[in-house]
Amino acid sequence: MTDRDWEHALGGLHALLWEGNELIGHASLVQRRLLHGGRAIRTGYVEGVGVRADRRRRGHGAAMMEALEQVVRRAYDLGALGATDQAAAFYAARGWQLWQGPTSALTPTGIQRTPDEDDCIYVLPVGAPLDLSGELCCDWRDGDAW
Ligand SMILES: CC(C)(COP(=O)(O)OP(=O)(O)OC[C@H]1O[C@@H](n2cnc3c(N)ncnc32)[C@H](O)[C@@H]1OP(=O)(O)O)[C@@H](O)C(=O)NCCC(=O)NCCS
Repeated sequence: MTDRDWEHALGGLHALLWEGNELIGHASLVQRRLLHGGRAIRTGYVEGVGVRADRRRRGHGAAMMEALEQVVRRAYDLGALGATDQAAAFYAARGWQLWQGPTSALTPTGIQRTPDEDDCIYVLPVGAPLDLSGELCCDWRDGDAW
């Protein structure tokens, strides 16, 4: 995880998992705008998800996601995240849906395709009308756009 990745995880809500004094898990939810279907959808974007290696497969990741998903459902029109290959099955098992259409980013020089991300963006539908095979464009930031 780079400094930029960490910066992307700041400014929203953090789910922290403690075992005594030791932090063994982290996930956060930040607000972004995703362009889709002619709308700028207010999106709860999940960042910085990780459980300490020796504490995985004990339900900790699920507990953090459950907490953040509740916030997404109550406070946003859409949930979204960019999954690592390792974590894709984890999100899919929780009902997150793989975006099927082309992805892009609203860069300072206009909309640019982000083909490398096409197979790793997952969404949690809430209220916004969605066509999963349509275009999905994220707002701009330094570092990885998604
Ligand atoms: C992804 C991650 C956060 C999952 O945390 P976790 O605490 O191990 O997950 P849980 O124990 O809550 O798993 C819940 C369910 O998700 C699924 N799941 C979790 N990890 C999985 C994996 N590696 N492969 C397949 N399914 C997985 C399973 O269905 C699991 O239930 P089960 O153990 O009863 O079969 C953890 O593996 C991790 O920190 N990975 C490294 C960092 C990373 O890739 N983060 C994601 C960035 S997008």
